[in-house]
Amino acid sequence: MFEKVRVTSGIPYLDELTQGGFIKGSTNLVIGPAGAGKTIFGLHFLSEGALKNENGLLIAMQEPPWAIRRDASNFSFFDHNHYVEPEKIVMLDFTPSGWELWDPDSLNIGEDSPFIIEAEGVPYDETSLPTFLHRVFYHISQVVEEKKIERIVIDPLAAFRFYDYGNDEGFLRKITTGFLANIASLNVTTIAISELPSNTGASIFGEEYIADSIIHLDMLSVRGEMMRILRITKMRGTKHTTKTLTFQITNDGIIFLEIDKDK
Ligand SMILES: Nc1ncnc2c1ncn2[C@@H]1O[C@H](COP(=O)(O)OP(=O)(O)OP(=O)(O)O)[C@@H](O)[C@H]1O
Ligand SMILES: [Mg+2]
Repeated sequence: MFEKVRVTSGIPYLDELTQGGFIKGSTNLVIGPAGAGKTIFGLHFLSEGALKNENGLLIAMQEPPWAIRRDASNFSFFDHNHYVEPEKIVMLDFTPSGWELWDPDSLNIGEDSPFIIEAEGVPYDETSLPTFLHRVFYHISQVVEEKKIERIVIDPLAAFRFYDYGNDEGFLRKITTGFLANIASLNVTTIAISELPSNTGASIFGEEYIADSIIHLDMLSVRGEMMRILRITKMRGTKHTTKTLTFQITNDGIIFLEIDKDK
């Protein structure tokens, strides 16, 4: 039998419901609508890593790192001075305005690059998705090596739509899943944040099929009050809870409301 090494989420109680956490080296989706707590989930995961000297990388695709840091500083579990400054948590700005700051000449994106993403039919230019993902992956692979990164959060995948993919949904899926597979090959444990409108079953990129686990966060209205819920709908190789868990977001981050000893 293979011994699976587990990577803890940093969210109190969650790892007890998943045989100890995510499988090391796995790709995991955290899916939910706006405001569901996805970024906070990712920050728990990175802070937990920083505590354990497992360095983390946040790939900021939509909200810039300064805004993520500002909001994170509200949370008791996130210590900016201990984690971000000593680079136990590295944040790369790949937001639409931020990535233009990267110096293209510093990137090896020529034909000899080992990270060429096949881009038939899509022009190889600054605004094309393959060019963008190429750059992102190149940076990720360099930072992973230099900083000995073990945990990655991509926040969110949906930002890929900002770039030109020739309006070809099949192509979009192909390069998105290829990108995630490339990251998985770096032997890091990844949380990819995905924005899914409430009450729909379909994902944008087909990413749920390549992910090793899927955690849904959502919000319901119960008697005029917002109720936050978490469901694990898939976790390969893991006996996980099938219950819908309710939680709150407080200054301590994600806190489950009722803890069921029977799981
Ligand atoms: N200190 C706090 N106490 C209570 N609730 C908070 C606190 N900080 C944030 N929240 C709640 O968390 C929500 C934001 O969580 P988060 O940024 O993780 O959402 P998200 O799923 O990443 O959203 P988006 O898709 O817009 O990026 C806020 O809308 C607010 O309801
Ligand atoms: Mg967010």
